[in-house]
Amino acid sequence: MINLGLIGCGYWGPNLLRNFYSLSNCQVKLVAELDDSRLEYIRKNFPSIRTTPNYKDLFSDGIDAIVIATPAQTHYELAKEVLHHNKHILIEKPLSMTEQEGNELIDLAKKGNRKLMVGHTFEYNAAVQALKRYIQKGEIGKPYYIYSQRLNLGIVRQDINALWNLAPHDISILLYVLEKMPKMVSAKGHAFLQEGIEDIIFLMLHFPDDVIAHIHVSWLDPSKVRRMTIVGSEKMIIYDDVSDSKIQIYDKGIRKQNIKDSLGHYDDFGKFQLIKIAGDVVFPKIDFIEPLKTECAHFIDCILADKTPMTDGQGGLRVVRVLEAAQKSMRQNGENVAV
Ligand SMILES: NC(=O)c1ccc[n+]([C@@H]2O[C@H](COP(=O)([O-])OP(=O)(O)OC[C@H]3O[C@@H](n4cnc5c(N)ncnc54)[C@H](O)[C@@H]3O)[C@@H](O)[C@H]2O)c1
Repeated sequence: MINLGLIGCGYWGPNLLRNFYSLSNCQVKLVAELDDSRLEYIRKNFPSIRTTPNYKDLFSDGIDAIVIATPAQTHYELAKEVLHHNKHILIEKPLSMTEQEGNELIDLAKKGNRKLMVGHTFEYNAAVQALKRYIQKGEIGKPYYIYSQRLNLGIVRQDINALWNLAPHDISILLYVLEKMPKMVSAKGHAFLQEGIEDIIFLMLHFPDDVIAHIHVSWLDPSKVRRMTIVGSEKMIIYDDVSDSKIQIYDKGIRKQNIKDSLGHYDDFGKFQLIKIAGDVVFPKIDFIEPLKTECAHFIDCILADKTPMTDGQGGLRVVRVLEAAQKSMRQNGENVAV
C-alpha cells in the first residue's frame, strides 16, 4: 500500500485524485491546495481525505509519494523540495520550464533512489499506443509527414502560453510514436488576448530520415479538435481523440509507376506516372481504458515493483528540450533552432 499526497487540485488535480482514489494499492491521505474553494470541493467529495493549505504538511505524514498538479512554473521548486524529502514523485507535464531544471530533478531522484514520473497522459492512451505499433511495424510504409491539431475555445491560461500548455501532449505523442528526437524546430506564435502570452502556435519539427511534423495548438479556435494525421509511403492514418473511431487507417496514396513503351517494355529513361491509390478504410477496434487511470496505476506499480516509469524523467526532459527550442525560435521570429 502506497500512501499518497497531492499538491494542487484545480482543474486537473481532481482527475488525478479520482483515479488514485480508485486504486486498491494506494491510499490518498492528504491534499494540499492554496484555494479555499478547492479545499471545500475535496472535503465535500472525498470526506476521508485530509486537506491542508500548506504543502509542507505532506512531508511529515508517512507519505511515500507525492503528485504535483500545480501550474507549470511551480513544478521545479516544488519537485525539488519533494525529492529532498525523499518521496517518489509524479509531476504533471511539463516536467520543468528548462532543460537544466529537468536535469537537476532527474539527478535528485537518482541520488535518492526515488521514482520520478511525468504526466504525459497520452502515452498511456490505447489509441496512441496502437498508432505507435502501426508506425513501428511498417503498416504505413515510410512515414513522410505528420500534422497535429489541438484546438479549442479556452481554457485560456494567464501563466504560460499555449505552447507550454498544449503542445507538450503533441510533442510527447510524436517522440513516442516515432521513437526519435527532432534535429531542429521552428515556431511562430501570436498573442491576441494577453500581451506576451501566445494563444496560437505553429510549430515545425524536423526529424531524422526526412520526416517532418507540424503542430498547431490554440485556445482561440471555434472548434474542439484533437487530431493527428500521419502520411506514409504506403498508407495514411488519422488519430482523432474526439471521434468514436479514434484510429482510421486509409489505404490511400500516390504511387510511381514506370511507363511502358509501345512494345510493352518499361521505359529505360525513368519516365513514370503518378497513380492515385484509394483502397479500403479500416477502423480498428481499440479497447479503451481511461488513460489517466492506466497512468496512475502505472506510477504505483513502478514504486511497488521497483520499475522505471514509461514516462520517466528522461522522457519528460526530451519534451522540455523541444519546448525550449520552440520557445527560442518564436522569440527569433521562427528561425530554425537545433534541439
Ligand atoms: N495530463 C493532462 O492531460 C493535463 C491536463 C490539464 C492540465 N495538466 C497539468 O496539470 C497541472 C495543473 O493544471 P491545471 O489546469 O489543473 O491548473 P489550475 O491552475 O486549474 O490548478 C492548479 C492548482 O494548484 C494550486 N496551487 C498552486 N500552487 C500551489 C501550492 N504551492 N500548494 C498547493 N496548491 C497550489 C492552485 O491553487 C490551483 O488550484 C499543470 O502542470 C498542467 O500542465 C495536465
